[in-house]
Amino acid sequence: MKQTSQSSSKGRPHTPIMVEEVLKGFEGVELKVFFEGTLGAGGHASAILEAHPEIERYVACDKDPEAIEIAKEVLGPWKDKLELIQGDFADLDQHLESLGIKEVDGFFLTWGSRQCS
Ligand SMILES: C[S@@+](CC[C@H](N)C(=O)[O-])C[C@H]1O[C@@H](n2cnc3c(N)ncnc32)[C@H](O)[C@@H]1O
Repeated sequence: MKQTSQSSSKGRPHTPIMVEEVLKGFEGVELKVFFEGTLGAGGHASAILEAHPEIERYVACDKDPEAIEIAKEVLGPWKDKLELIQGDFADLDQHLESLGIKEVDGFFLTWGSRQCS
């Protein structure tokens, strides 16, 4: 399993999990418009954008403004495709409506795991 790491400005490691598995799930699928609801530090986003150059609009949200700031830096190479929203993914309908998007080709949410010891 390939893993990449970013650190937040608080110094916490931010490691996207199961990146290869995520990419496999979208293998062979043409993604023009993509929505990610839990952007975090942008690790999954960069892997998906790298693997799918056909993506035209990568719409992503995170409720944490700090995550959005980190992701903006990490995703700099794809800035023209990005539409980042600070908010709750539960408001997906409103987010997409405000951008004039009626449907997406791919959708992704993730929750992290934390080491307790
Ligand atoms: C495990 S991280 C996501 C990892 C991310 N995919 C990456 O590549 O770095 C989980 C993120 O989900 C965000 N989050 C949790 N609940 C959310 C919600 N209801 N709406 C939007 N973001 C949420 C957190 O703020 C956190 O940044």
